[in-house]
This record gives sequence, C-alpha cells and structure tokens, in this order.
Amino acid sequence: MLIYFLIFLQFILLLIGIGFVLYIGFIMISFKNTVPYVPTAKKVIQKMIAAAHIQEGDKAVDLGSGTGRIIFAVAKKYPIEVIGVEYSCLLYFASKIKSVLKRKKGKVKIIRADFNHYPLKNVNVVFCFLTLEGLSDIQNKLNLELMPGARIISYLFPLKKKDEFQEYKIPMPDGKKVKYIFVYTKLARNA
Ligand SMILES: C[S@@+](CC[C@H](N)C(=O)[O-])C[C@H]1O[C@@H](n2cnc3c(N)ncnc32)[C@H](O)[C@@H]1O
Repeated sequence: MLIYFLIFLQFILLLIGIGFVLYIGFIMISFKNTVPYVPTAKKVIQKMIAAAHIQEGDKAVDLGSGTGRIIFAVAKKYPIEVIGVEYSCLLYFASKIKSVLKRKKGKVKIIRADFNHYPLKNVNVVFCFLTLEGLSDIQNKLNLELMPGARIISYLFPLKKKDEFQEYKIPMPDGKKVKYIFVYTKLARNA
C-alpha cells in the first residue's frame, strides 16, 4: 500500500515540477514581447485599488490582465463591473479557471483581445502594469476615449504626455529602491 502511495506522491511532484518549469519558461519567453508577463505583487494591488477611489457604478478594466490578480482583487471588494483584457491564450484560460473558483461581489468579464483595440468609452478606472513602450502605444487611446474624471492607475511606468491628466504618484519602498504607482485623473477638455 505504501509503495502505491509513494508512486502517487512522486507522480504529483512530477506534475508540479513540470507545471513550474512551464510557468518559468512561459515568463521568460514573454520577455520577447513589448509587454512581458510579470504578476503584480499583492500589496501593490491593494495600494492600486485604494488609489482608484472606486465608487458605485464604476466600470474598471485591467489592460493586460495576466491571470486576473487585479480584477479578482477588485471584484472581491466592490460590486462593480470589472473587465480583464488579455491576449495570451494561456493566461486567459488561467484567469477563466480562477473566475470559477474565486468569491466575488463584482461582475467579472475576461476578454481575450489586444487591449489596443478594446473600447474604453464607458470605463472609469483603468489599471495597468505595462512598460513605457506599451503605455506609449495606448497614450492616444487614453486621451481620446476616456471621459473626464476617469482614473488610470499605472504600476511602475508613467504616461509620456500628461497634459490631459492630473498626476500624482505613490511611493512603494522596495529594499533600497523606491518604486511608484502613478495615478492619473482625466481632466475636462477646457480645464
Ligand atoms: C506586466 S503583466 C501584468 C499582468 C496583470 N495585470 C497583473 O497585474 O498581474 C502585462 C500583461 O499584459 C499582457 N499584454 C501585453 N500586451 C498585450 C496586448 N496588446 N493586449 C492584451 N494583453 C497584453 C501580457 O500578456 C501580460 O499578461
């Protein structure tokens, strides 16, 4: 009996090992892209959510939602609509599975798409953890589509052109370095 249990245990450990190697391999390969997959730390997510000042009726989106860490953390706290937009098939399916398992107050939607083409007209809160290049690619979209009052919460990277936004940044001490969460509020056109 013990021998079967040990074989079963070895099999499970092997599966975990293969999963881990695939996960690390996937992360390394994603570094070839403009915006690689790097999950946001939980304590950063909590600060990002607090900075968003979410209110009833808001619609939030995470551009490049990965496995859905941000969207599920928002939906756990607030009964609002939260959308994750992710183009990686693997990450999209991982977040779909999480969606079944997670408890949530909000309504979560996960969309497999390129966020450069996702309409932001009715979105009030945009979360993103991209790169300078990734942000610069969507700068015009953010300028044109977001309504006054909409907030952008960007981890690590600032917007290049800030004329249409009010900016403040939240320091996040990380060892000897300080990282920032950049918070933008869209201004009214004639402000
Ligand atoms: C730095 S990760 C952040 C993941 C997630 N937001 C989090 O906080 O854990 C950036 C994510 O953006 C996705 N991504 C990059 N470019 C994209 C694009 N054009 N459209 C949709 N997703 C994209 C990547 O696959 C990756 O999952």
